[in-house]
Amino acid sequence: MKKTLRYFVMMLLLVSLSALLFACGGGEESTTNDDDTTANDDEGEITKLVVGTDAAYAPMEYLDDKGDIVGIDIDIVDAIAEELDIEVEYKNVGWEPLFPAVDNGEVDFAVSSITITDEREESYDFTEPYYVANQLILVPEGSDITSFADLKEGKKVSAQINTTGHKVVQDLLGETSSDIVAPETMPLAITEMLNGNADASVGDNSTVNEYIKNNPDAKVETIEDDEFEKEYYGLMVKKGNDELRELLNEGIEKVKENGKLEEITGFVVE
Ligand code: ARG
Repeated sequence: MKKTLRYFVMMLLLVSLSALLFACGGGEESTTNDDDTTANDDEGEITKLVVGTDAAYAPMEYLDDKGDIVGIDIDIVDAIAEELDIEVEYKNVGWEPLFPAVDNGEVDFAVSSITITDEREESYDFTEPYYVANQLILVPEGSDITSFADLKEGKKVSAQINTTGHKVVQDLLGETSSDIVAPETMPLAITEMLNGNADASVGDNSTVNEYIKNNPDAKVETIEDDEFEKEYYGLMVKKGNDELRELLNEGIEKVKENGKLEEITGFVVE
C-alpha cells in the first residue's frame, strides 16, 4: 500500500513537472517567434528582415500620430525592400541600444541616419552610402555665436549622445568637457538649448532644419560652418554579415538606378 502511494505521488510529480516544462517551452517558443529576425524561404533566400531605428529623428525616422514608424529613412528602406521582394518590420529600439541590438541579432540591420565613420567601421559593417548630410549649429535668435569655433569660448553645447554631432563637439571642447550636454535623443538636446542649459545645439542638418520648420515660433536660428565634413549615411549590419550587406547594396543600387532614391530624398548621392 505504502509503495503504491509512493509510486502514485512520484507519477503525479513527473506528470506535473513535464507539464510545467512543456508550458515553459511553449512560452519560450512563442517569444522567439516574435523576436524572430531573418526569415528564409525553402531555398534559403531571405524573405523578411527586422530593422531597428531610433524614431526620434524627424524627418528621417519618427513616430506619426498613430505611433507608426515613418520618415525618409523608412521610405528608403521600404523602397529597397520592395526591389528585393523582402518584407520588413521596424522596431523603435532607441539610439544607444541600437548598436548592441545589431550585435546580438535583436534586429537584422539598423537604419537611423547613421553616419559611416572609421570608428564605427571597426565594429560594424555598412552598406554603400544612400544619403549625404552635415552638421548644423542651432542657436537662440540673436546669439553672439557665428561659427563653430565660437563654441570654444566658454559655451555650453548640446548634442545627442554618441552621435557624430557629439563627436565634433568633443573634438572641439575635449572629450570629457563639462560644457557638453549629451542627452539620449536629439529632441532632448534641442530642449536643453531652449531651456538655457546650452548655448547651442549641434546635429545633422536634416533634423535641425526640420525642427525649425515644425516650430516656426521658436526663436532660434542655424549657423553653417564649412569646417564640418560631409557625412554619409549607411545601413548598418553586424560585422561580417556580408550576405546581408551585399543584398542591401544590391537594393540600394536598384533604387539609385531607377530614380526612387532621388525621388525620396530630393538629391543624388555619389
Ligand atoms: N548622423 C549622426 C550619427 O550617425 C546622427 C544620427 C542620429 N540618428 C538618430 N536616429 N537619432 O551619429
